[in-house]
Amino acid sequence: MIGENIEIAAKNLSEGKLVSNPTETVYGLAGNALNDSAVANIFKVKNRPFFDPLILHVKSVNVAKLYTQNWNETALKLAENFMPGPLTLLMYKNEKISDLITSGSPKVAIRIPFHEMTLKLLEIIDFPLVAPSANPFQYISPTKAEHVEIQLGDKISYILDGGECKVGIESTIIDVTEDKVKVMRLGGLDLNEIEKCIGYKPLIVKNDKSVPGQLEKHYSPHKKLKIIQSENEIEANHFSKIGVLSFGDNFKKDYFLNLNLSSNGNIDEAAQHLFSYLRQLDQSGLEIIYTKLLPENGLGMAINDRLTRAATKV
Ligand code: TXA
Ligand code: MG
Repeated sequence: MIGENIEIAAKNLSEGKLVSNPTETVYGLAGNALNDSAVANIFKVKNRPFFDPLILHVKSVNVAKLYTQNWNETALKLAENFMPGPLTLLMYKNEKISDLITSGSPKVAIRIPFHEMTLKLLEIIDFPLVAPSANPFQYISPTKAEHVEIQLGDKISYILDGGECKVGIESTIIDVTEDKVKVMRLGGLDLNEIEKCIGYKPLIVKNDKSVPGQLEKHYSPHKKLKIIQSENEIEANHFSKIGVLSFGDNFKKDYFLNLNLSSNGNIDEAAQHLFSYLRQLDQSGLEIIYTKLLPENGLGMAINDRLTRAATKV
């Protein structure tokens, strides 16, 4: 059931049921983090392997401190500047957080989502939530309540509809447990912002096998998605129904379906549309989808990361 009733969402979560919650990045599939059967059910509903850990959602830094340890100056500064917001901190957990949530790691990923409804929800309940993106494992993340309804509607108790997600791609994950911070997943918080805050360029960890979210295939549509450099690579004769995911004027010819992430080349707008346009292209009876990588400024790098993984077929 889709609705805007925060009390229903809170009641269901308190009873151990799963609820989809809106955030500024993508919709989450939330459960009571302190209830092992709710946590286990999240893996089941998403068809997600137990080795892929879950992100904790809390309402404030003070609550985050109840479940994590060793808040150094950098962690505090990042939290002060970007929480609530599209930033997830990887920190040492304490005993209140189960190994099920972290897949056995001593570290837990924690964030404060910047969405009024979810912040209100977190205010009402007296437990933290675990909330991975509300998509079946490896498929495109949902940025609208309807996306969740179509894919997981019959498996969860309630979808809290908070409109279209403003940022559109998942949070940036930063490991703050060592001297120098490391970026474990590119995401909705621009790295330049992080650099301004900490005073140096953070190291970007690529394809770290200890971070399952970095799986090579991820965010994938069912249809074949191909990244090209030039429109001349498109074999127009072979495919009658070609779709393109464009940006600005980077595709000039006519196609069966052309969805433009941002016709005036705005990278934030592109991030917001990315997943819903990919989803739409995937469901339009096309034979193949073509796209090009975007300029790497601002959120461009995070968008390209997703496009590259979405295009990988294994
Ligand atoms: O924006 C977001 O972060 C969204 C919204 C709903 O909050 N959530 C999200 O969760 O993207 P999920 O589960 O789809 O991706 C979380 C990723 C995992 O795949 C994993 O790579 C990483 O976060 N992660 C979580 N806990 C971790 C841990 N303890 N150690 C290392 N990586 C972890
Ligand atoms: Mg996900």
